[in-house]
Amino acid sequence: MSFAVAIDGPAAAGKGTISRAVAAHFGFAHLDTGLLYRAVGAKVLEGADAIEAAEALRAEDLQADNLRTAEVAQAASKVAVIPEVRAALVDFQRAFARRDGGAVLDGRDIGTVICPDAEVKIFVTASAEVRAKRRFLELQAAGSTMSLEAVLADVVARDARDRDRATAPMKPAEGALILDTSEMTIDEAVAAATRAIAARR
Ligand code: CDP
Repeated sequence: MSFAVAIDGPAAAGKGTISRAVAAHFGFAHLDTGLLYRAVGAKVLEGADAIEAAEALRAEDLQADNLRTAEVAQAASKVAVIPEVRAALVDFQRAFARRDGGAVLDGRDIGTVICPDAEVKIFVTASAEVRAKRRFLELQAAGSTMSLEAVLADVVARDARDRDRATAPMKPAEGALILDTSEMTIDEAVAAATRAIAARR
């Protein structure tokens, strides 16, 4: 039986951490859909055409080790405004959402476009400053020398591009639980998401 959990929200709000934790808790599969756009963005930085790259995307492309950089994140949000790029990635995501045994997908348009009939929809957010600080620490741990100010500027620019685009803009789905993690620990945020899912099972 399928059971879809849609987790959307802006950059570095905690979607990934929450998604991985609830997927492990309920034994669901997890898809970080940002990786699809990051993989296409990385190929564009290497000179590929965005639409061709999206249409030819393979599972191995999601394993590339450069996908978490700030440069690739910006490239991802630029290819993500192209309707043909998004269209090329829809079937894979919908099939994943409806696989047997349950699935958690995190991204920007999971509850609105990819899986509007998801059993649970959560929109995870936090203030831009808190999100930038979290992403700054993650990037630093991965060896980046970017300043906190530069990370904040990046996050704000990417949020604006994701929110203002015409196709599948980032916004809470109807009926989504809004989870503002600005003042929450990871454990508190995971517990809130776990409760919301448990209530629907
Ligand atoms: O990890 P973070 O939240 O910073 O970003 P991500 O989830 O890896 O997504 C990278 C970029 O891909 C976003 O800024 C969006 O532009 C795009 N994206 C999207 O348009 N739709 C999705 N479902 C997932 C990501």
